[in-house]
Amino acid sequence: MGPLATPDPEQIRWNEKYRREGLESFGIKPSSLLVEHENLLCLQPCGPALDVAAGNGRNALYLARLGFDVQALDISDVAVAWLAEHARRRRLNVYARWANLQIERPSEHQYEVVVNINYLERGILPALEASLRPGGLLFFQTMTTDQVDLLGERMPRRFLLAPNELRDSFPNLKTLEYQESIVTASVSGTKKAMASLLARKPGPRGCDPVRPAGPMRAP
Ligand SMILES: C[S@@+](CC[C@H](N)C(=O)[O-])C[C@H]1O[C@@H](n2cnc3c(N)ncnc32)[C@H](O)[C@@H]1O
Repeated sequence: MGPLATPDPEQIRWNEKYRREGLESFGIKPSSLLVEHENLLCLQPCGPALDVAAGNGRNALYLARLGFDVQALDISDVAVAWLAEHARRRRLNVYARWANLQIERPSEHQYEVVVNINYLERGILPALEASLRPGGLLFFQTMTTDQVDLLGERMPRRFLLAPNELRDSFPNLKTLEYQESIVTASVSGTKKAMASLLARKPGPRGCDPVRPAGPMRAP
């Protein structure tokens, strides 16, 4: 599916934001949730990974450097074009594609790793779980209602996780780590109330890893 002839309001909003502020201004440093678990990621069989609502693709690019073939989905065609070009120039396996995740669902049993960071679309949660291969890892992190209740930011509550909502959203996955805390965002330096989940889909792991020794780094 490609961008619609009549763009979605979210697509317009994010395109305008990315055009105004530039994709680099959001920082290309990957999420600490991924970096802190690099050892675990390196033990995962190489294969397809999914980054939903990828934005500038900081997390998709990181996974590609570790050797994954990454599908990066986003509703902003401005972000998708930027990421595709950025990955192409660095010869990284990131396939950036336009998608409206309010409508589109990822296919089942596809991915070794699924990443959902700084985005909340409740309707997609069962499909994220189903899209993992047995043994696959889910990395999920986004803001909680404490952003409003404790930190006083004015924003719609529908974009925020309720207490323990994330913990209870993937009943068929095995939780490896879960926390709710106030953190300082690395790029903006502002405080964020975040819930983070690292979970694994039970079942036999895939075929043997064909990973080169050590994480691959971009030149
Ligand atoms: C806060 S950014 C997060 C980007 C990235 N995950 C990160 O952590 O750097 C949210 C992203 O969600 C995308 N988005 C918003 N609504 C979407 C939708 N319905 N389908 C796909 N992407 C969407 C926006 O274009 C934006 O790039």
